[in-house]
Amino acid sequence: MNWIVDTPEKKVVVMTGSGISAESGIQTFRGANGLWENHRIEDVASPIAFRRDPVMVWNFYLQRRKQALGCQPNAGHLAVSALEKWVTEGGGEFLLATQNVDGLHTRAGSRNVIEMHGSLLISRCTACGEVFQDESVDWELPPHHDCPQKGLLRPHIVWFGESLFPGDMENIESAIRDCDIFIVIGTSGTVYPAAGLAHYANRLGKRTACVNKDAPANVDLFDTFIQGEAGTELPRRLFPEKRAKGNAP
Ligand code: APR
Repeated sequence: MNWIVDTPEKKVVVMTGSGISAESGIQTFRGANGLWENHRIEDVASPIAFRRDPVMVWNFYLQRRKQALGCQPNAGHLAVSALEKWVTEGGGEFLLATQNVDGLHTRAGSRNVIEMHGSLLISRCTACGEVFQDESVDWELPPHHDCPQKGLLRPHIVWFGESLFPGDMENIESAIRDCDIFIVIGTSGTVYPAAGLAHYANRLGKRTACVNKDAPANVDLFDTFIQGEAGTELPRRLFPEKRAKGNAP
């Protein structure tokens, strides 16, 4: 059995996609019953859609916020946060870059997290720019901020056609330049710039591993490809020592 991370004092970068949250009951985006099967991206996930119909967009995101708040992290999320703890306590470094906006990694105990596409649990004022934690699910739509301008609130999400938040890509790329291993979990490898990170790690000659239910579009970029569900494969493959002692998390 080849273990993904053999000793703790490593520099590890993990990137995840919606596949890791599937076992918590959160829909993925593409494939059978994916979110984009039932919703047109141009209607709900772009700045143009928001300008045209903020109520429709807010209904879409409040529905997803309710779902995320009603779900629990699964064994996959727990294995990633346990890996961070194991690596950082062992003298290593760890970064988790997630495309997911459901907040389940943080609820599973992950600490050093970059939410590349934002969060369902954060809102932003389009007038004063304030960004704040927001778990309310019964806003009168469209919601407005209590700042003097009474600005329209929007979900703090990176929509199609928008750039990632300042500094996030630079921080992730710098961690990849420095890492011993780059692990990709539960993503189809079709959405950029996140999908480009595997190319980047590959070009730098970094060791790469992928855990995914189906072979992602960029499967050839990985040294190790483990096909299976994250909630099953990650606990099994992440903890050699603990596994050997029979007390893997
Ligand atoms: N364990 C591991 N992988 C899984 C599991 C599972 N239990 N269930 C599904 N998968 C895999 C699928 O095989 C698929 O390759 O997760 C991947 C999900 O792919 P997508 O639906 O394309 O979602 P994702 O890659 O997260 O999308 C990227 O696109 O729509 C935008 O902003 C959105 O962040 C999202 C981005």
